[in-house]
Amino acid sequence: MRQAIFPFFYEESEPQKEELPYGRVRDTSWDYRDIQAGSGVYGIHPYPAMFHFLVVRRLLNAFSAEGDLVLDPFMGSGVVAVECLINNRNFVGYDINPLAVLIAKVRSTPIPASYLLEMLRFIEINYEKVEAEEVDFPNINYWFDKEVISALSKLRKSIREISDEDARDFFLVSFSETVRKASKADYNEFKLLRRKDVSNANVLNIFKSISLRNIGLLDGFYREPLAHKPKITLKSKNIFEADISEESVDLVITSPPYGDSRTTVAYGQFSRLSLYWLGLEERVDRESLGSKARDITDDLPSPLLYEVLERIKEKDQKRAREVFAFYWDLFHSINILARAVKKNRFVCFVVGNRKVKGEELPTDKISADFFQSLGFKHLRTIVRAISNKRMPAENAPSNIKGERDFTMRQEYIVILVKE
Ligand SMILES: C[S@@+](CC[C@H](N)C(=O)[O-])C[C@H]1O[C@@H](n2cnc3c(N)ncnc32)[C@H](O)[C@@H]1O
Repeated sequence: MRQAIFPFFYEESEPQKEELPYGRVRDTSWDYRDIQAGSGVYGIHPYPAMFHFLVVRRLLNAFSAEGDLVLDPFMGSGVVAVECLINNRNFVGYDINPLAVLIAKVRSTPIPASYLLEMLRFIEINYEKVEAEEVDFPNINYWFDKEVISALSKLRKSIREISDEDARDFFLVSFSETVRKASKADYNEFKLLRRKDVSNANVLNIFKSISLRNIGLLDGFYREPLAHKPKITLKSKNIFEADISEESVDLVITSPPYGDSRTTVAYGQFSRLSLYWLGLEERVDRESLGSKARDITDDLPSPLLYEVLERIKEKDQKRAREVFAFYWDLFHSINILARAVKKNRFVCFVVGNRKVKGEELPTDKISADFFQSLGFKHLRTIVRAISNKRMPAENAPSNIKGERDFTMRQEYIVILVKE
């Protein structure tokens, strides 16, 4: 009735729930289809497989209280960090990708727009004065025109002259997005692929428009002053080098990589050009979960994993070993989390189930098995639909040959409690 009177009135349809095997429940109320994951401050710099902030907010409200300590050992662009900041939870996060840590820092550092506008003017004035520096890294001329290299070098120098670290980092994130846009790489792909239609890029204009957008996003998001100042700690570190005390964490919300970065999401390739320009080390694709070859051993606590591995082995022994290497690393990172969490506290482990050689890998169930072997009880697994914009689409060129069925349509929020 109401819709007939107000044709544009938006009414969410009744959420649908369906019980599925392995403790899964498909619950459409977690989809948030009409609200973009990249809204507000989460629109600052793209990042692959980013959390939907409304999912994180709901999990924080359901499983933690103000003042709690929340951990995300694979924090990516810092959605959990920001949600902790605005919901008064302390936060500690790790990521092996220094670009992710920089984005997370900028998104979680409110700075007044008037000050950032002043600094943008400073950069523009500086840009006219500074000399371009010599810049070199592998394949630089394949990815950038000569004039673009010179302009990016002047821009970087102008930004580096800002003495305030927070403001400097803010503009380095805008610079990183400028690098991507001004390069010959396809902006819409996570992997490094050269665009066919390469037109001349005006570096300063691109940077200015990205910076103005980011200033607006940050200012709009933090317009209300924060009522509390929780402690937000961001570390550029491999989870295997983490220094988290035993039983110190109240809640884990995290999403590990979906598989090895060669065949799923290539975080390293996504970040490589930016990291070269920022002078940061790229070790993501070398050190991400599953990047080191490993022979299959029988010591992982998930019978289901071995059933699927058997089927993959029949088709391709090498792929089976690669898949195993990923789960071996996943199990050992889960060990670290399991020790860090306090008793009677929760873990929300968000995974995707990809296919290898046509066989679906039920990572949600395998992760639940791993946690259960370490004293956790599996409560349920929420299945939600994800927007394709956050992940490579089926048959996109970003999928390597033989991995055409890597596409994520759903994610699995595995909820566990430590007993
Ligand atoms: C699915 S993404 C997380 C995205 C994040 N939830 C967000 O909202 O942006 C997984 C992250 O794990 C990181 N990663 C991979 N291996 C890691 C390791 N061994 N230690 C720490 N981080 C790692 C990757 O760099 C990537 O940022």
